Amino acid sequence: MKNIYFPEPFRIKSVEPLTILKREEREKKIEKAGYNVFALAASDVYIDLLTDSGTGAMSSQQWAGVMLGDESYAGADCYYKVQDSAKKIFDMPYIQLVHQGRAAEKVLLPILLSGKKYAISNMHFDTTRAHVELAGARAIDCVVPQALDTTTYYDFKGNMDCERLERYIDELGAENIGVIIMTITNNSAGGQPVSVENIRKTREIAHKHGIKFMIDAARYAENSYFVKQREREFADSTIADIVKATFEGADCFTMSAKKDAIVNMGGLIGCRDSELFELIKQRTISFEGFITYGGMSGRDIEALAQGLNEGLDENYLKYRIGQMEYLAGRLEEGGIPFQSPVGGHAVFVDAKKLLPHIPYYEFPAQALAIELYLEAGIRACDIGSFMLGNDPDTGKQLKADFEFTRLAVPRRVYTQSHLDVIADALINIKERAAKIKGYRIVEEPPILRHFTAKLAPV
Ligand code: F0G
Repeated sequence: MKNIYFPEPFRIKSVEPLTILKREEREKKIEKAGYNVFALAASDVYIDLLTDSGTGAMSSQQWAGVMLGDESYAGADCYYKVQDSAKKIFDMPYIQLVHQGRAAEKVLLPILLSGKKYAISNMHFDTTRAHVELAGARAIDCVVPQALDTTTYYDFKGNMDCERLERYIDELGAENIGVIIMTITNNSAGGQPVSVENIRKTREIAHKHGIKFMIDAARYAENSYFVKQREREFADSTIADIVKATFEGADCFTMSAKKDAIVNMGGLIGCRDSELFELIKQRTISFEGFITYGGMSGRDIEALAQGLNEGLDENYLKYRIGQMEYLAGRLEEGGIPFQSPVGGHAVFVDAKKLLPHIPYYEFPAQALAIELYLEAGIRACDIGSFMLGNDPDTGKQLKADFEFTRLAVPRRVYTQSHLDVIADALINIKERAAKIKGYRIVEEPPILRHFTAKLAPV
């Protein structure tokens, strides 16, 4: 009997043709791009794993919603629909629309950090870190140590290190900490889940010290699926109930809807406190637009109202995480090292282990991303020292904890055959790994350099 592993709970109605360039053509394209995958034209890419953000395939119901979207400036019908969906899902009384995750951060974080010096998170995503710093505070990461070893199995590698958190609070002073942020799943550690037990404990610590507790909810549905699989208390719960337990007692959340709500653009802020909500609304009007559209067109809001519910469907989540597990399984067979167990939205290949001869300052994860493009037209990205950049004080290259090449898988977009191409490409690269060279930077801007820097082979 064959085990049917991860059946897609959909069929394909509309397709987008892909180009397959020859290797010589790809060599020219990547050279012209200054060996930076962000500078490649998407049409020169065969399988695009740059991000899972805004790259998902919408359902026929969502596309139907695009036609229904009410484009009224104030009080559009779709506004009430999304309010209704979001309030039910998150069990929070106040919901604000914004155009994406970082817009939510831009609106909310300066309010929480006003007069404060620090934000502490299991791990800040890079835009979250940027908005903490723009608000004049420092961002401190406090993930469990198990996350740092890519080879050991641990159910919840995304968790907050609660003991270290308590020590930080003692050392820095609770009055100086504006917010404690739980990022679910923990993207930077490898799309790793956080347990509800850890969320509760972190929230209790925050509240004991009078600090606001916020959730960065970009991948909250994938996190809930892992909780159901791995946390005994929730084995028989519905995904909807796990989401409620996750958000219970949180003061507020930000969310990039471009991930688990399977839309191409959108974001949300939620909170429980009416005074905080007043401040959120005021800043939304200045930066995003009137409160009932928050930087989004009505058609996108309609798709979001629908996508919020589709993203919580257990069969969909089983397929989604199943794709990750399938790809991870093939890589494991092929001896490719990655952050294990695999996370929810991507396989994070451990380039430090695959290319041990390339030092961090010659960017092994970037070198591997370039090889993937040359090998099979696959676009992945560096989550390592190349992305981390230079020390702002000394200008010296920083050494990242991880050198990951991230293979982020868009939702409902690629088939199992595409996943096989990715695995085969990596296995081929492994065979010639010792011959692969590192890169040096020839041109870079001062901040967020990885998007536009130019490189050359060493
Ligand atoms: N928080 C997390 C955990 C994220 O992963 C992202 C985006 C954001 C916030 C910001 O949301 O892009 O809508 O403004 N992550 C994408 C990625 C870009 O590729 O991981 P946004």
